[in-house]
Amino acid sequence: MAKYHRETDLQLLTQDELDEILDMALNLSDELEFIDRPWRQIAYDSTQKDIERVTGDTRVAREFYRRRLIMARELGFHQTGVKEMVIDQYRLPPRIHKPLATKVSEMFDISMNEIDPIIQIQNEGHILYPHIGHARNSSIFCLLQSNNERTIWYEETKPFKTYSMYRIPDYSKLKEAEETRLTVGKWTTFMHNQWHAVKRDGDPKKWRVNLNIDFASLPYDELLEKIDKWQKST
Ligand SMILES: [Fe+2]
Repeated sequence: MAKYHRETDLQLLTQDELDEILDMALNLSDELEFIDRPWRQIAYDSTQKDIERVTGDTRVAREFYRRRLIMARELGFHQTGVKEMVIDQYRLPPRIHKPLATKVSEMFDISMNEIDPIIQIQNEGHILYPHIGHARNSSIFCLLQSNNERTIWYEETKPFKTYSMYRIPDYSKLKEAEETRLTVGKWTTFMHNQWHAVKRDGDPKKWRVNLNIDFASLPYDELLEKIDKWQKST
């Protein structure tokens, strides 16, 4: 059984509501609020100088750069025709955000300040390099539109230090552990606090858009328990 994701039969929004959200994403509606993330200051193509400027620490910058080179070698990079996917994240307008967060809070008995429903849009590139969640530990993920990308989770073969500033792994100490192609419209639990990557073959035909109900610190196992409990009670 899969350890890091699980398809559910949850219907947290109607099809009309999901369609409306996809439409807002595809049109980059003014109602969406762009979420800036500080770690976006470092991109895969940043030079060691750029990284040093952001981190203010030469040793750390050197380590990030070393990890970068390992991933470039193992997974490809722009010079070998592999382009990094860029994810833009948006907060839903309060008229959708609030009722959805309230519903999830009541259904699964999760505190409101844990819950953040967001939209993610990826419109170019081939790979989202392995990373772990920053502002979330677990989530319930609903893909709205995709190019049938693969999501891959990894396990560490040897422990290595993780930096909060930039969640880049030492890829030489990771092995692939689980892979899936998420299903459009299926609410799927998603373990964020485990190294994972997204890959697509070739250039995207469409934007990849997903709705994510993020839980800031809720451990993935507890999320599964809460969903099971709710399903038993209905
Ligand atoms: Fe992720």
